[in-house]
Amino acid sequence: MNEIPEKLTETAAGIIEENISGFRPASLAEFIGQGDLKNKLGIYIQAARKRGEPLDHCLFYGPPGLGKTTLAGIIANEMRGQFRVTSGPALERAGDLAAILSNLQPNDVLFIDEIHRLSPAVEEVLYPGMEDFFLDIIVGKGPLARNIRLQLPPFTLVGATTRLGLLTSPLRARFGIVEQLELYAPEDVSTIIVRGARLLSIDISSEAAMVIAKSARGTPRVALRLLRRVRDVAEVRCESSIDVNLARTALNMLGVDSVGMDERDRRYLYAVIDLFGGGPVGLSTLSAALNEEAQTIEDIYEPFLIQKGFIERTPRGRKATRNGYGCLDIEYPVEMATDQRTFLLEEDEAADPEF
Ligand SMILES: Nc1ncnc2c1ncn2[C@@H]1O[C@H](COP(=O)(O)OP(=O)(O)OP(=O)(O)O)[C@@H](O)[C@H]1O
Ligand SMILES: [Mg+2]
Repeated sequence: MNEIPEKLTETAAGIIEENISGFRPASLAEFIGQGDLKNKLGIYIQAARKRGEPLDHCLFYGPPGLGKTTLAGIIANEMRGQFRVTSGPALERAGDLAAILSNLQPNDVLFIDEIHRLSPAVEEVLYPGMEDFFLDIIVGKGPLARNIRLQLPPFTLVGATTRLGLLTSPLRARFGIVEQLELYAPEDVSTIIVRGARLLSIDISSEAAMVIAKSARGTPRVALRLLRRVRDVAEVRCESSIDVNLARTALNMLGVDSVGMDERDRRYLYAVIDLFGGGPVGLSTLSAALNEEAQTIEDIYEPFLIQKGFIERTPRGRKATRNGYGCLDIEYPVEMATDQRTFLLEEDEAADPEF
């Protein structure tokens, strides 16, 4: 079968309608995991449909690959509207967004990916559109310029971002539903893998699915990518199904270990432990040492390493934990065990980019 491209290509208008069949679940019932969010969303959708109104604007945030785009597509399906896709960086001028808004139909879902990257001029156009469903357009130039107010059909804006902290507060305040996507539990990832295998027409044992799931950093996109690579190995070996041995061999070949750490995670952890004595070390220092963008480190490596309990964020920077040392087979230094100076300070993270 054809695999759906993960990232969307954009047309001149910066928008395409995405085919959300294939790997992407099309209904809320098919969406696996994120139980709380799913329940809440189910109620909001049902209530909106009962009232014959569009769903409130939704903002989804969380690390990449957890299903933000998928959920937006599901909302469009459930609300029986079209799914219109664009992204913050694609909307360069206010006119780009005005063109998209004026073409919406009732119940459409306009999805803006990377919404934290909207320019201020584009945001200005979005505010009245979100709040009161109208669009102010200036026609003509100079003294002849006139302001025309255009009524928009009731629609739902779904925004997605990996960086909630970078959204302006007026924009954030205009979303009625703001939800975080969490890393998935291995059981849920395993179910996603079994479903993916069915779509790829390959058999997989539940034990093998769990082995892959544990290596997938709690992320469906990573899980499905690993599954495709394991399937490659199965095909080359003329195996008709994936069992535990084959899954383990294939993951080994990919350099992914049983807890899901890959080469880059290990490099990160070695840097904290080896170069910076276990930390605390600031994000920008780590970014320079690893030659990786700070944002990549924050969005991709750290949520997983924190979930695993291998590192922690402290007021003075990142610090390796006892488990972090353990997973690299390095002895935990005695002086670290007695260091009482660190506290978790999540609130300060957005304010101080160093943390
Ligand atoms: N709950 C789920 N059940 C089944 N498949 C899922 C689920 N969540 C995500 N996927 C699959 O994982 C892949 C990534 O999902 P998606 O593109 O929606 O993530 P995203 O959060 O939008 O990522 P990004 O931030 O990079 O845009 C897709 O192929 C999707 O089908
Ligand atoms: Mg996406």
